[in-house]
Amino acid sequence: MSKTTPTDYEIHDLLKKRWSPRVFSEKPVSEAELKQLLEAGRWAASSNNLQPWRIIWGRKGDGVFKRIFDCLHDFNKQWADNASVLIVGAYKTHRDDGKENFHALHDLGLFMGNLSLQATTMNIALHQMAGIDPEKTIQTFSFPEGYHVATAVAVGYYGGEVDKLPENLQKMETKEVRERKPQSEWAFNGNFGG
Ligand SMILES: Cc1cc2nc3c(=O)[nH]c(=O)nc-3n(C[C@H](O)[C@H](O)[C@H](O)COP(=O)(O)O)c2cc1C
Repeated sequence: MSKTTPTDYEIHDLLKKRWSPRVFSEKPVSEAELKQLLEAGRWAASSNNLQPWRIIWGRKGDGVFKRIFDCLHDFNKQWADNASVLIVGAYKTHRDDGKENFHALHDLGLFMGNLSLQATTMNIALHQMAGIDPEKTIQTFSFPEGYHVATAVAVGYYGGEVDKLPENLQKMETKEVRERKPQSEWAFNGNFGG
């Protein structure tokens, strides 16, 4: 299944092609492919080159996958088991000099942006999830003090049977046209609000 991306200005095909599925192909994402994705993330820009992102990953069947799955909110548990890989995205909250790293979450986002673009070149889809219990994840994976868990990510090849999903999610999955707010709502050449 592919989606229509009705852009107002021309953008790269990879950006148009990307979307966030809740079913994935049965074809597993290999460890080497996953390392390629993480390598793309590794080369993201970050404030002061602090690289505050921290990642836990598990491939289906390896035990870690299930431990990540168990930290997800119930909504995401309805479908995230369809993925081949689950990732936890966390970040270090403070710089080595003790000051808060106000930009760490921003940098984790850039990391995930790189992952996402690299994945699309490989016909691999990501589905980011805010619906994860951060405290449970921190305990489950023995994070030391000073780290926040921000997201989980489901990873798998595009493809897969929509009827694997509960009915409410099937509707979302098969919606053909992607939607975005127009630039005029959030981009201002001057004072906020235009
Ligand atoms: C930080 C973040 C958190 C998200 N959390 C969830 C989530 O918990 N569950 C879910 O099903 N989708 C989640 N999404 C997916 C978004 O709903 C999806 O990206 C958005 O609807 C746009 O669709 P598209 O990615 O297919 O263009 C999340 C996306 C992002 C970037």
